[in-house]
Amino acid sequence: MKLLNGKPVAELIYSRINQIPVKIAVVILTKEQSTILYIQSKIKKFSQFNINYEIIDLNENISEEEFLKVIDELNLRLDINGIFIEMPLPNHIDQFKVFSRISPRKDIEGLNPYNLGRILYNKECIVPSTARAVVELLDYYNIEVEGKNVVVVGRSITVGKPLSLLLLNKNATITICHSKTKDLKDMTKNADILICAIGKPNYIKAEHLKKGAIVIDIGINCIDNKVVGDVDFEDVKNIVSAITPVPGGIGPITTAITIENCFKLVEKSL
Ligand SMILES: NC(=O)c1ccc[n+]([C@@H]2O[C@H](COP(=O)([O-])OP(=O)(O)OC[C@H]3O[C@@H](n4cnc5c(N)ncnc54)[C@H](OP(=O)(O)O)[C@@H]3O)[C@@H](O)[C@H]2O)c1
Repeated sequence: MKLLNGKPVAELIYSRINQIPVKIAVVILTKEQSTILYIQSKIKKFSQFNINYEIIDLNENISEEEFLKVIDELNLRLDINGIFIEMPLPNHIDQFKVFSRISPRKDIEGLNPYNLGRILYNKECIVPSTARAVVELLDYYNIEVEGKNVVVVGRSITVGKPLSLLLLNKNATITICHSKTKDLKDMTKNADILICAIGKPNYIKAEHLKKGAIVIDIGINCIDNKVVGDVDFEDVKNIVSAITPVPGGIGPITTAITIENCFKLVEKSL
């Protein structure tokens, strides 16, 4: 079994970054401790790559209208190249409205409908970082997807949907599964490559996989102060031909792509 470590892939992405002057706005609404810690680690990374940032610390009860006004102001500011919105958004703020409002030219997370639409057309664009991280990992380890049966479990707008399209663009045959999929095992057993992003700790077992499958585990779940993926690593390790670890798989690559996206917004007018 080959372990598909994310660290060398992230290093490769960092090495190709051209550190031009960039300033971004980091919009924060939640005051939840785990999110704050996550933001702090991201901000450390921004500093490491000389990305100037301005924190826009908003009250989590801000109305949707007021929030959209903040985005309008950031869109107009010439000194701000990119807008990063910490997720998840509170329930009373519509994610679609927010990302539709961010200028596609300042959309670090690639969630504006224009950028997502460019994936449909198979045109270069700012791509949601986790989806792109999977493609980078497959490329790095020379895992060919053309003609392969790829099963993506999870259909979120940030991960499963854009990832499925990216792999379709690379000529994979895609099956997308979700919480309403009947007989998940029947689908996943068919996978040459299984990709899981559901947020359910250790959910995928050996019985879900065919022998020799390649497994990409995107899940990040915390149990008993330990981070585990969506795939039960111990249960599947003797049946898979390759698998990403959690932590240390897709996570570090996702961070690297976010950093790269900040520079891409300035470098390219897509
Ligand atoms: N490694 C990284 O850098 C990174 C980045 C982002 C996310 N993540 C992790 O990836 C996981 C997914 O994140 P997300 O934002 O995509 O989550 P999400 O928005 O909650 O979406 C979860 C998806 O999984 C599906 N699902 C849930 N339970 C299922 C089940 N039992 N069988 C089949 N499908 C099921 C849901 O189906 P429905 O659509 O039917 O509800 C939904 O499409 C989380 O653990 C998250 O922490 C990791």
